[in-house]
Amino acid sequence: MADPVLEVDDLHVSYRRRGRSAEKRVIRGVDLVLDAGETLSLVGESGSGKSTIGRALLGLAPVREGRIRLDGADITDLSRRRRRVAAAGLQAIFQDPYSSLNPAMTVEDILIEPLIVRRVPDARGRVRRLLEEVGLPSDAGRRLASEFSGGQRQRIAIARALALEPRLIVCDEPTSALDVSTQARILALLRDLQDRTGVAYLFISHDLGVVRHISDRIAVLKDGTIVETGPTRQVIEAPAHPYTRRLLLATPVTDPVAQAERRRQRHASAIAARGLDVIG
Ligand SMILES: Nc1ncnc2c1ncn2[C@@H]1O[C@H](COP(=O)(O)OP(=O)(O)OP(=O)(O)O)[C@@H](O)[C@H]1O
Ligand SMILES: [Mg+2]
Repeated sequence: MADPVLEVDDLHVSYRRRGRSAEKRVIRGVDLVLDAGETLSLVGESGSGKSTIGRALLGLAPVREGRIRLDGADITDLSRRRRRVAAAGLQAIFQDPYSSLNPAMTVEDILIEPLIVRRVPDARGRVRRLLEEVGLPSDAGRRLASEFSGGQRQRIAIARALALEPRLIVCDEPTSALDVSTQARILALLRDLQDRTGVAYLFISHDLGVVRHISDRIAVLKDGTIVETGPTRQVIEAPAHPYTRRLLLATPVTDPVAQAERRRQRHASAIAARGLDVIG
């Protein structure tokens, strides 16, 4: 059997409190396994530690105990610089495409940077193909990141994450800042890219509707501990843990794809009612 893409064993993260000796334990003994081409979602209330787990994988949160393996290689203790080299296979997409892209750089410069650092041959050709893959117009490379809408910027961020053909992308609320139809399109793009490349996603979201649509499995996090994990349908339709049931009650599961489709149909019938042709 091939190694899983990601293995997290007994992860503990704690932050030092300013001026105090006690540490604040944020992640307490989390185990995760993720195979190629798979999407595992982390859900849980605000403050439950979802982003902290993603940050620990990326070397951005203090791991106190436990191991993190990427494709069988232990990356837990790599310095940030060495991790960048060893873990090119691990990339991230964050919620806010406005702060994560330098607005003064052209899209081509943003995308070509990691390719040149890694001496990827025909970097320009690769940038063109990346733009096409994420559905951006072919002249997008020459424009500044600031010229694009939120959804398009998220496409640029996805292209940048894909540039080095990663094995795993940590997606931390990647559609939370987008309107519902843009959300649906970005989710469809992520799935499509996964089908084509076999990339795995650790998908972090507070939105169970989005999670239902994208995940193969769900892990439910409460106060830094996983209380339930299972296939998507099972967790959403037959939750085993009372915390999961509370979470589902607190956030009714709406499906952004179905919602976008309903909206499109309403729009189309409103236009038809006015006797106009539907364009687009
Ligand atoms: N740099 C830090 N220093 C101290 N405490 C932190 C730091 N980052 C996060 N925390 C704490 O860790 C806990 C988990 O935070 P985290 O951001 O992982 O939650 P989350 O589940 O992603 O929440 P949200 O849904 O709001 O994004 C919170 O109590 C938070 O206050
Ligand atoms: Mg978070």
